Amino acid sequence: MAGITAWLTISLCCSLTVADLVGIPTVPFVTSAAGHYDFHQTQSIVVDPRYGNATDTNGWTLIPPTLNDFARTFQEDLTHITGRSCGLGHWHETKALSIILTLDNCSDFVDAAGRWTSEAYRLDITENNITVTGASPLGVWWGTRTLLQQAVLQNGSISTGSGVDSPGWNTRGVFLDAGRHYYPPSFLVEMCNWTSFWKQNTFHLHLSDNLYNNVDIYSLERQLELYARFRLLSDDPAVAGLNKYANESYTLQDFDHIQSACAARGVTVIPEIEAPGHALVISQWKPELALEGQIDLLNISNPDTIPQMETIWKTFLPWFQSKVVHIGADEYVDSQLSKNALAVVYNTFVNAMNDFIRSVSGKSVRIWGTFPPQANYTNNISKDVTIQHWEFFEDNPVFDYINNQYSVINSDDHFYLVQKYSGSYAQQLNKTLIFHGNPLGGAFAPNIFDPNNATNNPPRDSPYVPGHIAAQWNDYGYNTSTYLEAYDAWRNGLPALADKQWGGKLKEEQYDAIFEKLQAAAPGQNLDRTIPSKSSTILKYDLTKDCDNGIVQDLSGNNYNGHTNCTTTAKSSLLFDGTCTLTTPLTSKGKNYTLSFSLNPSVYNVPLFTGPDSQLRLGNGTSTQVMMISAGNAFALNYTLPLNSWSQATLIGRGNQTFFSVDGGKEMEFTTKLGVNGEFFIWANMAMTAPLQTIGGGGFEGEMREVVLVDHA
Ligand SMILES: *[C@@H]1O[C@H](CO)[C@@H](O)[C@H](O)[C@H]1NC(C)=O
Ligand SMILES: *[C@@H]1O[C@H](CO)[C@@H](O)[C@H](O)[C@H]1NC(C)=O
Ligand SMILES: *[C@@H]1O[C@H](CO)[C@@H](O)[C@H](O)[C@H]1NC(C)=O
Ligand SMILES: *[C@@H]1O[C@H](CO)[C@@H](O)[C@H](O)[C@H]1NC(C)=O
Ligand SMILES: *[C@@H]1O[C@H](CO)[C@@H](O)[C@H](O)[C@H]1NC(C)=O
Ligand SMILES: *[C@@H]1O[C@H](CO)[C@@H](O)[C@H](O)[C@H]1NC(C)=O
Ligand SMILES: *[C@@H]1O[C@H](CO)[C@@H](O)[C@H](O)[C@H]1NC(C)=O
Ligand SMILES: *[C@@H]1O[C@H](CO)[C@@H](O)[C@H](O)[C@H]1NC(C)=O
Ligand SMILES: *[C@@H]1O[C@H](CO)[C@@H](O)[C@H](O)[C@H]1NC(C)=O
Ligand SMILES: *[C@@H]1O[C@H](CO)[C@@H](O)[C@H](O)[C@H]1NC(C)=O
Ligand SMILES: *[C@@H]1O[C@H](CO)[C@@H](O)[C@H](O)[C@H]1NC(C)=O
Ligand SMILES: *[C@@H]1O[C@H](CO)[C@@H](O)[C@H](O)[C@H]1NC(C)=O
Repeated sequence: MAGITAWLTISLCCSLTVADLVGIPTVPFVTSAAGHYDFHQTQSIVVDPRYGNATDTNGWTLIPPTLNDFARTFQEDLTHITGRSCGLGHWHETKALSIILTLDNCSDFVDAAGRWTSEAYRLDITENNITVTGASPLGVWWGTRTLLQQAVLQNGSISTGSGVDSPGWNTRGVFLDAGRHYYPPSFLVEMCNWTSFWKQNTFHLHLSDNLYNNVDIYSLERQLELYARFRLLSDDPAVAGLNKYANESYTLQDFDHIQSACAARGVTVIPEIEAPGHALVISQWKPELALEGQIDLLNISNPDTIPQMETIWKTFLPWFQSKVVHIGADEYVDSQLSKNALAVVYNTFVNAMNDFIRSVSGKSVRIWGTFPPQANYTNNISKDVTIQHWEFFEDNPVFDYINNQYSVINSDDHFYLVQKYSGSYAQQLNKTLIFHGNPLGGAFAPNIFDPNNATNNPPRDSPYVPGHIAAQWNDYGYNTSTYLEAYDAWRNGLPALADKQWGGKLKEEQYDAIFEKLQAAAPGQNLDRTIPSKSSTILKYDLTKDCDNGIVQDLSGNNYNGHTNCTTTAKSSLLFDGTCTLTTPLTSKGKNYTLSFSLNPSVYNVPLFTGPDSQLRLGNGTSTQVMMISAGNAFALNYTLPLNSWSQATLIGRGNQTFFSVDGGKEMEFTTKLGVNGEFFIWANMAMTAPLQTIGGGGFEGEMREVVLVDHA
């Protein structure tokens, strides 16, 4: 492996060599002699019984897993990655070839500012055993990520030696705009599983927002109808009517599941409810709270506004299993009112909400950087509110905040992504900036707010920078993308950024050498929607011959046999009668793929192929066009398949586009039409998976044969 041989090597003496483990992030390490621990020989994972029930009380979550809990998840992951299945052993019977998980302290368990951190761990690796010593169970958990990564990169083993690894910052992760675009709980959990493999600990979830940054161009009637969402759904009468869209919401049960599943892998969900700007959903609920003329802003001078926001928070604070919550407080700007007038009421709002949330829940509060403190203001924002900086036109993190003893999380917009299109922002993370973003030379780090001007950056050891959160926004709404495209946008760059958020030393060429290998092995997720296959043909159903007791043989060699209760016709095809189906053991195939089939349909408005992430249909009731459905939206071709004649069809997923072609004709692309602030439209590509779980059903009548899925396009 090129990345491994490229160790940064400094000889200390004949048998000890400083050789950081190349991984994502890198791990400080000193190798001893030339030995390896072989994971395939592991006899047991042993938890120090003194700490089995210990939890990390210093992290962001209120539901920290115990060391035993983390050990069980590690055990599953080790099996997934090495194929080695071993039990959790007993301490007093610790055999050779064990992985020992324990806690202790070590003078090097410190962050970039030199403070003790519960997320640090020490690795001691001999040929006989491995000991992971965490500052807390969370530290042990990150240590197990290192073991798994090295098992992938070092062919099932890890070099002997030892190392102490501590994150430089305690806030490392992502922000996802789930206000303007819904994401189901299963997707959010899978994302936590993924980010956790890169040692990120934060998933900031934006739970309310609206489309259009310029609602004031519309009439009041129209403003009251614009897309605005509040994603939490409670039956508490205090918030009745706030959320009118039950099917794209999180109930308490959903939110509990998301939070506990993320916490199980060391990731804390930080919820955000946005006000007093981006608050159209609240004005639609209580129009009397809106600022006249621009109703996505709340009128803080209305004496009912703060109490209503307190009511919302009072309802949902008990749902939140984090020590900190985010109250938004972003972009409170109005063309009619002066900045100063707005700042005064804004500060009143933030301080009131901060006092309220602290007093009823003990939680602390984050806001987006908006109105920095000024010497002549009487109500500057309390210094115990953490500022999340995003743009220099809002604030200067050092001069406005850090020099006045405020803590500032770095979410500067040079790492902002906006789905599919933006006049200002990228759709992919800038890898050059990640590896070379320090204006003084070297890589980006959480203290780099400004990649061009070092004067705007605090020192690396500043105690006022909790860390970095990379944001992904959905400015153009619900139909811009599938759920998985949120992952696609981060896939290639986020792990590299995670190395920098931790304080790792990965070089760009090392990243390029190891990323795909680690990505393919990352446990608890299959966001690429890959399907193991012996050859490039993944699935092949002939359907021309009688099937045996409803079993449809897969001729690809992969044995992905299907089940059907449809019948084979005399014309050598499978006959779909409207109710019968052909089900496969597969769900979805991500890019790249070609799914081909011969089809003779006799009705419209029916599904052809259905999977958990997408569906291919012949019409939807109002249109007979061929269309894909994903994330609840229809993406139609300007094309209708003929009825009662055979067509040879192909669905193609190539890169970030999806195509359909018939009888070898021109490839037609499924696209989406984005409305940009109600001003103009943009057509954008859609990356949709091949739907594979069910063929037919739902009223589909017609014949089919020769269903073939290959892994290229
Ligand atoms: C840990 O917790 C489990 C379950 O609550 C309990 O059975 C066990 O006795 C505890 N172990 C220790 C060492 O406290
Ligand atoms: C390590 O030190 C920290 C900070 O002093 C303390 O909170 C923690 O309990 C110690 N952990 C162990 C395992 O001794
Ligand atoms: C781990 O292996 C080392 C070296 O063989 C040995 O000294 C140590 O006692 C072992 N630790 C445990 C807990 O078995
Ligand atoms: C505070 O001082 C600045 C700079 O002199 C001035 O522009 C602003 O109007 C003052 N703000 C208030 C609330 O008085
Ligand atoms: C789609 O892929 C092309 C080619 O790789 C790339 O140029 C383009 O930026 C991508 N579009 C999006 C929205 O990611
Ligand atoms: C990425 O960042 C580098 C360094 O700041 C810059 O030169 C380059 O233009 C950026 N690339 C894109 C596509 O924005
Ligand atoms: C760099 O930042 C400092 C402090 O904000 C500012 O005074 C200076 O003008 C900036 N330099 C450049 C070249 O923009
Ligand atoms: C995510 O991880 C949890 C805990 O290991 C696991 O139960 C769940 O199945 C994983 N999710 C996926 C999609 O694999
Ligand atoms: C096939 O199975 C489906 C689902 O179990 C059922 O709804 C349907 O009636 C069955 N159709 C036939 C023709 O057996
Ligand atoms: C059916 O699809 C068409 C074409 O995309 C779309 O305009 C229409 O809104 C859809 N109707 C329903 C009920 O989803
Ligand atoms: C759809 O296709 C028809 C026939 O090919 C063509 O006349 C029409 O202009 C197309 N419509 C759009 C919106 O592209
Ligand atoms: C998919 O196809 C595109 C276009 O041919 C290519 O650039 C890309 O590397 C392929 N991706 C995979 C995962 O094979």
